[in-house]
Amino acid sequence: MKGEFIKNSKILVTGGAGFIGSNLCESLLELDNTVVCLDNFATGKRENIQHLLKHPKFQLLEGDIRILNNCKNACDGVEFVLHQAALGSVPRSIEDPITTNDVNNSGFLNMLVAARDAKVKRFIYAASSSTYGDSEGLPKVEDVIGKPLSPYAITKYVNELYADIFQRTYGLDTIGLRYFNVFGRKQDPNGAYAAVIPKFVMQFMKYESPVINGDGEFSRDFTYIDNVIQMNLLAISTTNKNAVNQVYNVAFGERTTLNELVSTLRLKLSNFDERIANVKIKYGPTRVGDIPHSLASIEKAKKLLGYNPEFSIEQGLEAAVNWYWDNL
Ligand SMILES: NC(=O)c1ccc[n+]([C@@H]2O[C@H](COP(=O)([O-])OP(=O)(O)OC[C@H]3O[C@@H](n4cnc5c(N)ncnc54)[C@H](O)[C@@H]3O)[C@@H](O)[C@H]2O)c1
Repeated sequence: MKGEFIKNSKILVTGGAGFIGSNLCESLLELDNTVVCLDNFATGKRENIQHLLKHPKFQLLEGDIRILNNCKNACDGVEFVLHQAALGSVPRSIEDPITTNDVNNSGFLNMLVAARDAKVKRFIYAASSSTYGDSEGLPKVEDVIGKPLSPYAITKYVNELYADIFQRTYGLDTIGLRYFNVFGRKQDPNGAYAAVIPKFVMQFMKYESPVINGDGEFSRDFTYIDNVIQMNLLAISTTNKNAVNQVYNVAFGERTTLNELVSTLRLKLSNFDERIANVKIKYGPTRVGDIPHSLASIEKAKKLLGYNPEFSIEQGLEAAVNWYWDNL
């Protein structure tokens, strides 16, 4: 990763055994930071952090953010928090809104209280593009949001409201990062709530037809994990006071339809196994809570944080497909 980023700090990554969290733990350790990982393994995996367990600057705390004391223990002596722990997935939140709310909102509030009491320097948290809800304008700019379209989206919006109130009321500095469809190494391809890229890759590798919800013309601003890591490192490292207590889009700034995505994945995977080129695509009903199009403006992040995404969707898909081919 290019740039001058924070070194020799003590940083807590909640959800550090998950897809994004475990990648963040790795990058922070590479920069010589001390990393505390708090996770209850609800969706995270031990194998994501197995190789870090012997690292002298890595500490795993198995615990639940719904328990305030777990959050307080995790924040002890910590300078920065990268709060990733949450239950992701719109469909999961529609199936079970209560658990999603408990983890994503009550857990979030516990973390804010623990971070405030531990006097952490900055609390950086995973927000979501789902906060744009039914607003139709493209590209999405941070100040213009719509009405949430799912229980998950509500929780992520409430996170932003709480973060703002903690800044105003208690002076806790925060930065919210609205991630747009993140993908890359270690993202879980399994389970009912798997994200679309790892799920389709795994299906192609088994010669199974991926099913696209809708006609495939919905589009997303798919964002490679390394761009997300860069934004988290910038959010920790920035010395620009105007950049703090803000919410940012985290994306590449380009739109890809689901039809384009599956074609690219099929093509890339057929370079490894030519039989994959013959796997057909299937189409199913549109999912409740899905927004039709998503495209971020990344101007704010560029201007205030110096964000410069290094991986295009094409480069990211190449890297991700190679990783899945070697690791699945
Ligand atoms: N992946 C994306 O495209 C995307 C998009 C927008 C926002 N986000 C947000 O980014 C964050 C990370 O997402 P991810 O894709 O890495 O998901 P993930 O499921 O891989 O990671 C979430 C982690 O949080 C942990 N966790 C869940 N409940 C917990 C609890 N009660 N206590 C402690 N740990 C708990 C899980 O075990 C897991 O390790 C989440 O907040 C998610 O909402 C992700």
